[in-house]
Amino acid sequence: MKGIFITFEGGEGAGKTTVLHAIKDILEKQGKRVVATREPGGSEIAEKIRRIILNPDHTEMDARTEALLYAAARRQHLVETVLPQLENGALVLCDRFIDSSLVYQGVGRSLGVDDVLKMNLFATAGLMPALTLYFDVDPAIGLARIEKNSEREFNRLDKEKLDFHYQVREAYQALANKEPERIKTISAEKDIESVIESTWQLLTEYLTDSPEKSE
Ligand code: TYD
Repeated sequence: MKGIFITFEGGEGAGKTTVLHAIKDILEKQGKRVVATREPGGSEIAEKIRRIILNPDHTEMDARTEALLYAAARRQHLVETVLPQLENGALVLCDRFIDSSLVYQGVGRSLGVDDVLKMNLFATAGLMPALTLYFDVDPAIGLARIEKNSEREFNRLDKEKLDFHYQVREAYQALANKEPERIKTISAEKDIESVIESTWQLLTEYLTDSPEKSE
């Protein structure tokens, strides 16, 4: 594979989407080929699955159904968007990926991280990101940011109780401790400019350490 697969992870209102687009702009100004995409979604079929999963009216959705739908959307997005772009040598920046399922479904929905990982590795045929940037924020701060931002759609998972979001945060922190080589933590509690700067620093370190990858 010629490209690099980088994922952006974090709880609600961590600002990761804003940071992702800012980083994309900087990389493009340097002449790099960058693709920004997101999960669930990022391809026509996967966007349709997204609408089913996140519809606030679907209160009766079973936790395993939810996990399977995320994995189905992931598979389709991978095949239609991520893999072809990586083959083309692009830097693929993806807003959420497998770690979201491990923490939201594995821990938040109590399905178990190991089972959710196994099911997802079937969906991705074992593909993992080269680098994962985890944006860490206290859920109370993150959710307050979302409430202020009226443009962002309010989805079924935002409606979960604060406890759920604290569990999600702890699960992300545990994953980052378990896989320090792949997952880098960025504190997302400061202003957005500082968060973009810390992210840029981490990313350039990563790309400099692997110069063959940053062409
Ligand atoms: P989105 O509106 O994209 O929110 P955000 O800006 O926080 O990324 O909604 C995605 C929601 O789906 C978010 O609440 C996290 C959740 N999610 C999972 O529970 N499992 C997953 O595997 C993925 C990709 C997302």
